[in-house]
Amino acid sequence: MSESISKNVFFIGFMGAGKSTVARRIARECGIASLDVDKYITRAQDCSIADIFSEGGEELFRKIETETLAEIANSDEPLLISCGGGIVLSPENRRILNESGFVVHLLVDADEASSRIADKSSRPLFNDIEAARELQQKRLPLYEEVADVTIETHGKNVFQITSEVTDKLREAGVLCQQQE
Ligand code: S3P
Repeated sequence: MSESISKNVFFIGFMGAGKSTVARRIARECGIASLDVDKYITRAQDCSIADIFSEGGEELFRKIETETLAEIANSDEPLLISCGGGIVLSPENRRILNESGFVVHLLVDADEASSRIADKSSRPLFNDIEAARELQQKRLPLYEEVADVTIETHGKNVFQITSEVTDKLREAGVLCQQQE
């Protein structure tokens, strides 16, 4: 079935929430373009996220992240956009998210996130589980502040989560059948 989105859909949430996987699945099922902010950064900088952190610290990464988000949010065609877990930290990013689309928060706790992330070396901010629990709790109010909808992902597989997200997008009038 061919469908379209009326505005950008941003996927936010803690590392391991399934943002990229879910965005990609919806993109494939509905025939809509999707884009991953971290992948876009990696390609544009020709450098991994871990290398950006080790060369310029989190500060450099956040600067690039905001520039990239601003550029992507302005694209002509609405996109399914998966964001890095820390995108909500900057007030400027939160403004962009709120003003340029519909925001889906995929809620995951640090323990489940840890079990989903096979290679933690690619996540410089996912160190030990205690620190991850604290970080997730600290960020939760920011995710909630910008979210138009929150989907609890605990104990659900990617098919269930994708189906819940598409239902919510249809209900909100963001995902619609394409006019031929
Ligand atoms: C980060 C999450 C990562 C990546 C970077 C920082 C964070 O993305 O942007 O390592 O601050 O939570 P994922 O959420 O896709 O793992």
